[in-house]
Amino acid sequence: MREITPKRIIEMKGKEKIAMITAYDYPSALLADKAGFDIIFVGDSLGMVVYGDKNTLNVSMDQMIFHTRAVAKAVRRALVLADMPFGSYEVSVEEGIKNAIKLIQAGADAVKIEGGYDHKKLVKRLVRMGIPVMGHTGLTPQRYLRLGGYRIMGENEEEIEEILRDAKALEKSGAFAVVLEFVLADVAKLVTEEISIPTIGIGSGPYVDGQVLVWHDVLGLSEFSPPFAKRYVNLKEVIFEAISKFKKEVKEGAFPGREHYWEFQDKDKFEEIKERVLRKI
Ligand code: KIV
Repeated sequence: MREITPKRIIEMKGKEKIAMITAYDYPSALLADKAGFDIIFVGDSLGMVVYGDKNTLNVSMDQMIFHTRAVAKAVRRALVLADMPFGSYEVSVEEGIKNAIKLIQAGADAVKIEGGYDHKKLVKRLVRMGIPVMGHTGLTPQRYLRLGGYRIMGENEEEIEEILRDAKALEKSGAFAVVLEFVLADVAKLVTEEISIPTIGIGSGPYVDGQVLVWHDVLGLSEFSPPFAKRYVNLKEVIFEAISKFKKEVKEGAFPGREHYWEFQDKDKFEEIKERVLRKI
């Protein structure tokens, strides 16, 4: 069992900020775990940042399983959280349970679903059978068609009510935390004060119990980044420079250098072997 458990995440509320980042493959997850993140999250954002989709609606269970497996192999300390993709839990509670089991069997410690109030039954059943669940409200990208695009949430009474209702339903159903995405900071603060489980914000200001960002946004690898994401390094530039140098050296014959290949020590012996081989073939 990994060191960071859902129980530990709950205990961190009000004491220590929770640091969460997405990761989609083995080398990234190794680094995120080494850096000391509390939660390493295989988000369905992989559809956009890894596969180049325009939204997250086409991500499949197979994609989530493959990437969860790779991440889970790398992580020793952090809690590994896997996203339930669009269509994997909306049709029926039974199907949601079957799909959540697949992610746990791929090595996740917990699953995340988008929404709250509408999925009370599923959350309760999963928790009862031993599968920890994180909820997600505010901007829920899987519902972006209904929401009319990616926009800030909580600007009117109806939306504030819906966000708070989701968060409270998740708490009551046994979820161990809830993501608040792109919610006005005042609303995120209200929710954080109103529920006993941690809130993890993304684009929702500082008055939450933790923060999450997408790997590619943090590292400057995304094609498009949301306005709330902070880029800590421009890896796109670093990588472009490195691969361009490699290409140039190939074209100029400068790569491989003498340290990157091996030759026969005994040239006469090679000539003998060569003659024999050429005669045979
Ligand atoms: O899939 C994802 O990366 C997410 C985060 C934005 C929280 O859901």
